Amino acid sequence: MNIKRTKKIIENPPSELEPVKQLFPEDAQQQLMGQLFKFIELEHLYESAIREVKTKLEILDSEFRTKFSYNPIHHIEDRLKSPQSIFEKLQRKNMPFNVEAARANLNDIAGVRVICNYIEDIYTVADLLTAQDDVSLIKRKDYIKEPKPNGYRSLHLVIETPVYLSDKKELVHVEVQIRTIAMDFWASLEHELKYKTDTEVSAELAAQLKDCAETIAATDVKMQQIYQTLKEID
Ligand code: GTP
Ligand code: MG
Repeated sequence: MNIKRTKKIIENPPSELEPVKQLFPEDAQQQLMGQLFKFIELEHLYESAIREVKTKLEILDSEFRTKFSYNPIHHIEDRLKSPQSIFEKLQRKNMPFNVEAARANLNDIAGVRVICNYIEDIYTVADLLTAQDDVSLIKRKDYIKEPKPNGYRSLHLVIETPVYLSDKKELVHVEVQIRTIAMDFWASLEHELKYKTDTEVSAELAAQLKDCAETIAATDVKMQQIYQTLKEID
């Protein structure tokens, strides 16, 4: 979204929007417009933070490739929380819907997911990222050491990193989820289960999925051991 173009549309709304505009007094229109522009800036800020964090991770990964002929990161995904999801989450938390409340209360507007080959890579990546001068660790939840009751495993970090704009530096929170390929495979299927409404079937499937989580965790450990042994032979 672009502020200049949005401003034009608001000032000269298409004819079908004109009756909607008439419903609001002039000062309410100004306020709405102000918030809208702030949201466009917010999106840009968090999008930029995602790019900063991804670049940091990509540099670490390529350094490992150069030095050790090995990539700790399999791939990286990212997502920017939509205004609709920001609105719903603020509502759930009984917070007002504005940019200030979103910035102060939501840690996951910017989300980066790092998929690694082995469990050890997860901690290597997390330690190297959080050791950087301009990265502060805000929150760390280790669902690998302490899996969720449903079997969910991942390392979650909330980090704060600077984004340099034309006239200021902004410190931005980014949620970083780090997991193995196997943990990611499991989490995608479990995520689908969340949207199923048949509770009887869901309970049975949840139990089966929990079993899968344990099998996957054991496999992750075995694969790590095989990899270590191979490395020692090399
Ligand atoms: P929320 O984002 O409000 O849930 O905050 P929180 O700090 O309680 O979240 P938590 O660190 O537990 O999880 C944040 C994110 O991790 C979620 O938005 C999901 O992407 C992922 N996640 C957490 N638990 C699960 C789970 O049980 N299954 C799956 N598939 N994903 C999960
Ligand atoms: Mg979340």
